[in-house]
Amino acid sequence: MGRPPNLYSFTDSELAPNLRKYIVDQQNDSIKRHDAFRVAVSGGSLPKTLAKALLAPSSGEDDKVDFSKWQIFYADERCVPLDHEDSNHKLVKEELLDKIPNDMAQPKVYPIDEKYLDDAQEMADQYEKVLVNSFAARDSVKLPLFDLILLGCGPDGHTCSLFPEHPLLRETGAWVLSISDSPKPPAKRITLSLPVVSHGAKIGFVATGGGKKDVLKKIFETEEGTMKKSFALSSGLICLASGQSNITDYSNYVN
Ligand code: 6PG
Repeated sequence: MGRPPNLYSFTDSELAPNLRKYIVDQQNDSIKRHDAFRVAVSGGSLPKTLAKALLAPSSGEDDKVDFSKWQIFYADERCVPLDHEDSNHKLVKEELLDKIPNDMAQPKVYPIDEKYLDDAQEMADQYEKVLVNSFAARDSVKLPLFDLILLGCGPDGHTCSLFPEHPLLRETGAWVLSISDSPKPPAKRITLSLPVVSHGAKIGFVATGGGKKDVLKKIFETEEGTMKKSFALSSGLICLASGQSNITDYSNYVN
């Protein structure tokens, strides 16, 4: 049996500092281990929350964000141009990357290749190659090992572009998958596969807002939904929920 995830619930104002501590701890640990911090991020409200957490002034040596060591990949991306309203990269760029002060080192970012916008499968294959190049040749590692995968959770329980009950959840052969019938628009997207997400050294779900209340209840009470069922095996899983999510009842999950 996998360990239950660590579940923390915060007020809106507590979330950013706690998320920062969680991320910076993983960062420091990863830099110590291999002089780099490889992170996958998703879209939704996460980039804004990340900016709030990471761009705040540091309170000491152990609390410093060292973007020079960061490699940022996308846990999922929509098949749209990088400057399109729906692009996760645009969101991350506007909310976070563009706001990193010029005198700070910048992270290395891996957006999708716009050449493949018309063919989601080609785009997924291409992005998988990017991962292979960064994480070693495909035949020498079975799965890419992200130091941290930061995800959101939709009101229907989806995470990245992996939707509950969708056949894509059963795909084990590829690192990056294409989806052309995403229930959340836009329909054409690419996403890390479930085995890749589950393999992350640490996986953090940041679920914010009242819209998550019912699904979090369902996930934690009945083991239904993508998150609990699929990721309970990962020892590195945490779920940070804030504000109206109102999941403080689940104190048995709080570490
Ligand atoms: C996407 C996101 C998606 C998101 C959740 C939560 O591109 O659609 O990656 O997985 O993280 O839908 O979104 P909110 O944080 O906005 O609720």
